[in-house]
Amino acid sequence: MSLPTMPPELDAWQAFGTRVDDLLSSTLGGSDAALDRCLEHSAREGLPAISVSLQQGRFLGLLASAIGAKRILEIGTLGGYSTIFLARALPSGPLARVVSLELHPHHARVARENLEFAKLGDRVEVVVGPAIDSFGALATGHDPAAPFDFVFIDADKENITRYFDLAVPLTRPGAIVIVDNIVRDGGVVDADSTDPRVQGVRRFLEQMKSETRVQAAGVQTLGSKGYDGFAIARVLNPKG
Ligand code: SAH
Ligand code: DHB
Ligand code: MG
Repeated sequence: MSLPTMPPELDAWQAFGTRVDDLLSSTLGGSDAALDRCLEHSAREGLPAISVSLQQGRFLGLLASAIGAKRILEIGTLGGYSTIFLARALPSGPLARVVSLELHPHHARVARENLEFAKLGDRVEVVVGPAIDSFGALATGHDPAAPFDFVFIDADKENITRYFDLAVPLTRPGAIVIVDNIVRDGGVVDADSTDPRVQGVRRFLEQMKSETRVQAAGVQTLGSKGYDGFAIARVLNPKG
């Protein structure tokens, strides 16, 4: 199916999704000084407003804590908004860590400032550089006795399949891998899309057809971030 433009109704749905997100945040749980400061400081420093929403962040943290994740890998730090939820989900103890990979030194610096303000600076390692290169160092130093329990893939969409293939071998059976932005206003259904981000997501979904290392589900979301979605994969066998 070709979807040359987003249906016009989507604007109205996003506005409504924002109202519902506001209700959810005033009932199920809202923001705090560190999260607010993270978004404000990131905007002031010129970072794009593409962090996960508050409720999406809460969902990521809830899932990470539900599986007792001690070692978390994030690809795409931006200003560290999602990172805060992930780091807060860690249990106490010296070995609990988030490793977050970020291309841009400026984003990484802003993220470190935001994480310091949130008193999470000692729980998160922001690694600067192209994620593919950072994976090389991670794999070399990888301790099979300390696999990742939770992975959040949220960087350049062109490379999702590569990040997925590099991350899964570093996890344990039962680990969760989340891929963000798999719907993109529904643009993902357009096989002829000239948007390389859409094509990146489509390659990832195609690859999942024959993927035996994980079981996965797609969840579409509507809220303050518009119409989008996550893929949620549970690792069965990291080595295939
Ligand atoms: N996870 C963040 C949002 C990440 S936005 C949150 O929800 O708060 C995507 C980030 O990926 C940007 O900061 C961008 O600079 C980074 N990125 C883009 N290409 C990358 C690459 N090749 N390697 C590592 N990071 C990359
Ligand atoms: C974009 C990237 C994201 O990670 C996101 O959540 C929303 C938008 C983007 O590159 O446009
Ligand atoms: Mg994203």
